[in-house]
Amino acid sequence: MRPLASRIHVLTGEGALSVFAHANELERQGKSIIHLELGEPDFHPDKPVLDAAKAALDAGKDRYCNVAGVPALREEIAAYLLRTRSITVDPNNIVMAPGCKIALFLAMMALLEPGDEVLYPEPGFPGYPSITRGFGGICVPYLLTEKNHMQPDPDEIAAKITPRTKLIITCSPNNPTGSVTSDAVQSRISELAVQHDLYVISDEIYGRIVYSGEYFSMLRYPGMAERTLIVDGFSKSFAMTGWRLGYTIAPPQIVPAMTMLSINSYTCVAEFSQYAGIQALRDSGGAVPRMVAEFARRGARFAEGLNRVPAFRCLAPEGAFYAWVNVADTGLSAEEVCRIMLEDAGVAAIPGAAFGPSARDFVRFSFASSMEMLDEAITRIMKVSPAWQSVVATR
Ligand SMILES: Cc1ncc(COP(=O)(O)O)c(C=O)c1O
Repeated sequence: MRPLASRIHVLTGEGALSVFAHANELERQGKSIIHLELGEPDFHPDKPVLDAAKAALDAGKDRYCNVAGVPALREEIAAYLLRTRSITVDPNNIVMAPGCKIALFLAMMALLEPGDEVLYPEPGFPGYPSITRGFGGICVPYLLTEKNHMQPDPDEIAAKITPRTKLIITCSPNNPTGSVTSDAVQSRISELAVQHDLYVISDEIYGRIVYSGEYFSMLRYPGMAERTLIVDGFSKSFAMTGWRLGYTIAPPQIVPAMTMLSINSYTCVAEFSQYAGIQALRDSGGAVPRMVAEFARRGARFAEGLNRVPAFRCLAPEGAFYAWVNVADTGLSAEEVCRIMLEDAGVAAIPGAAFGPSARDFVRFSFASSMEMLDEAITRIMKVSPAWQSVVATR
């Protein structure tokens, strides 16, 4: 047989999915597992959202539909973004996609030529470097460090910009660090993008899950409207992971490219999902603020619990639903800590290297799980922590 396309060999998978598979295997063998590995809210959409999907199906909205998305949904998204993010978006510049990930994939496909350099946050969503390599781009990570409170360092970004840089990817709140990029830092990144004529893909999928203060979209800064592609979706903020609803907001000159890529790939997004999306955005029952308040409560308590575990160090989560824990002081690798937690304590979490090599001393826990489960996870981790306390003692 002839070989597969070489791009396949440069793509990488996601640590969360492989830990999930291992945890499921242990569960099948009868072990009790607390799943803190996946980035999936443990909530489901409210009844009006489900009713809207059912009504859409009853009305026969199960056909091919508008490539860019149902116009009523795109208008609702524009109204939602004005209300929640203070940005004015033309509904004609929104292209729906079956999930934020495919929006990101196609946005990068629209922008990248082989040899183009892409700056992206590390630790960060594993798709950024994988997709970059898949399109022949060059990966140029900028680091989020504890020393810098997980904020990007605009000086580092400036130093890494070359004539071949085409794109900066930003993500706030960030997966896996749970950090929210400050207005000042985002403003400086936007100035760099304008100064060097770069595109920015702003991954705002966690934009609604912020625990204090105002959220600043990349579209708020001067000169950004013509160079920013926002990717967002319903998976996290509306607990709709399986509905596969996402979108790109692109500058008008890029919208035809995004539409062309939709035509050549998924054709359109499931129409009944889109009608449910309209109801989710209207959120008549206040489900989203309730969910975010609950995540805030859990995040604060879980981080406090993790900080009680010997040799664990966790910053307070500012957004998303991840606790990012430095485990270097255990004297074990993060992989070994995760193995002990999974196999001996039944707590599934992801070694930081899944989010970039510089994150090898960290572990990501998702706290999108009930408070009881999170408390139980801390109790179980405490019980197995002598495994690393003895290592610490011998050093
Ligand atoms: C930062 C980030 N971007 C994009 C996605 C993809 O989301 P979706 O379910 O909409 O494809 C995720 C999902 O984990 C994510 O964490």
